[in-house]
Amino acid sequence: MSGKARVIAIDGPAASGKGTLARRLAEHLGYAYLDSGLLYRAVGVRTIEAGGDPSDPAAAVAAARALAVEDLEGRELRGDEAAVAASKVAAIPSVRQALLAFQRDFVADPPGAAPGAVVDGRDIGTVVCPEADAKLFVTASVEVRARRRLKELRERGLEAIHSRVLRDMKERDARDSGRTVAPMEPAEDAYVIDTSDLDPDGVFAAALEAVGARNPLG
Ligand code: C5P
Repeated sequence: MSGKARVIAIDGPAASGKGTLARRLAEHLGYAYLDSGLLYRAVGVRTIEAGGDPSDPAAAVAAARALAVEDLEGRELRGDEAAVAASKVAAIPSVRQALLAFQRDFVADPPGAAPGAVVDGRDIGTVVCPEADAKLFVTASVEVRARRRLKELRERGLEAIHSRVLRDMKERDARDSGRTVAPMEPAEDAYVIDTSDLDPDGVFAAALEAVGARNPLG
């Protein structure tokens, strides 16, 4: 691709609506999309499959270094067990380091010669792409997010209990915000969108306005 690819960084907690927004923005702009959470999910799941403990740095970093693009597919990555394993491996600095190159390569040269990339995660605007052309931090109250996740799990035919989903969500938030390396937090120059009272169209409209106003995507 010629010229520098544009980058939109979208961070925020689980079930905030950032993935839906990121996919829609990417489609709208003709950009490539990277769900960085999938990388951590795949490392967590592969660590367990190899008989390791996701909290064990040696086991997790071995899985991170061996990660291949084919590992990013599979239904098992979408469940909450994978999410819990992901947030454990994600707290290990050497795992984050191993996944940094994959993410930076993606934005430097987006697949399909796309003119830009939309990347969502927890530390995209702060660590992975601090020079992003636009940064959004998408959030919502933990109760709203737990209700959304419960609905999503049940729609996928998975058994889920509200109290358990809420507890897991709070634990994961605490782990993601409290870790010493690349904690989840809005970048100083991020535009914050609270989706608690917005539907997907409302979130998309707010994002387009924020992205366009701050940095016209000409
Ligand atoms: O976004 P998703 O819920 O799939 O992410 C799963 C977990 O991966 C998060 O809870 C977080 O611990 C980790 N993650 C991260 N940094 C990212 C993306 C995800 O630490 N950029």
